[in-house]
Amino acid sequence: MPDTASSHVIALIGGTGPEGRGLATRFALAGHRVIIGSRDAERGVAAGAELAAALGRTNVEGGGNDVAAQQADIVVVVVPYAAHRATLEGLREHLAGKIVVDAVVPMIFDRGPRPVTVEAGSATEEAAEILKDSGAKVVGAFHNLSAEVLLEPEAPVDADVLVTGADAEAKQTVIALAGEIAGVRGVDAGPLRFSHFVESITILLVGINGRYKIHGGVRIAGMDAH
Ligand SMILES: NC(=O)c1ccc[n+]([C@@H]2O[C@H](COP(=O)([O-])OP(=O)(O)OC[C@H]3O[C@@H](n4cnc5c(N)ncnc54)[C@H](OP(=O)(O)O)[C@@H]3O)[C@@H](O)[C@H]2O)c1
Repeated sequence: MPDTASSHVIALIGGTGPEGRGLATRFALAGHRVIIGSRDAERGVAAGAELAAALGRTNVEGGGNDVAAQQADIVVVVVPYAAHRATLEGLREHLAGKIVVDAVVPMIFDRGPRPVTVEAGSATEEAAEILKDSGAKVVGAFHNLSAEVLLEPEAPVDADVLVTGADAEAKQTVIALAGEIAGVRGVDAGPLRFSHFVESITILLVGINGRYKIHGGVRIAGMDAH
């Protein structure tokens, strides 16, 4: 359980999907207050209540995406890429000064996973562009953690989380947050312009995971001393 100084209120935007519920599970287990957001406040409330009951915890709730974003200090975006721009534009006023963690992978399924070209270079850079005058600190993370594994609270994850961003303090906060998930290590993967590589690895992983019937992640070798 983190001490008060590192305890966060974390909103999951689009948190009713598997990735949002999976991350919510792990953040709740780490002792943070978690709010599952939805376009439909009632659906968010129901998802929050269901997860709280499943975990036997009181630190999970749900609501509308807007209220979730307002209440949180860390806002994690887990909507499909097709909804990325509209979701961020709609929430911009609620994101001022907050850490916004983008976990969105620009991909589609068409006879297997395929990348979607993003003019900004990556979804995370697109988020930074959309929020540039809002005071939000945009960080890319969690793209390579499979929802199936996150949703199993007893299963250690065995993966690194590659974290990109322009704000060093925000990036360190997210690296520490990733490290609170059992089996996960947060790794500084560099500036925003490297987000494209992190997002693209997911497409490779989805293919490998499908072929081998696993839910594997990535590990950076040679970092045992860190
Ligand atoms: N699944 C994974 O293993 C995984 C792993 C790493 C990263 N990711 C990334 O995380 C994101 C979420 O993945 P997911 O599998 O959880 O996706 P999902 O189930 O398809 O969508 C998540 C939620 O987004 C909301 N949503 C759907 N369409 C929307 C729209 N047009 N506008 C606004 N909100 C919309 C829905 O919530 P409401 O209807 O309640 O609003 C939905 O429950 C994706 O970008 C994905 O690339 C997924």
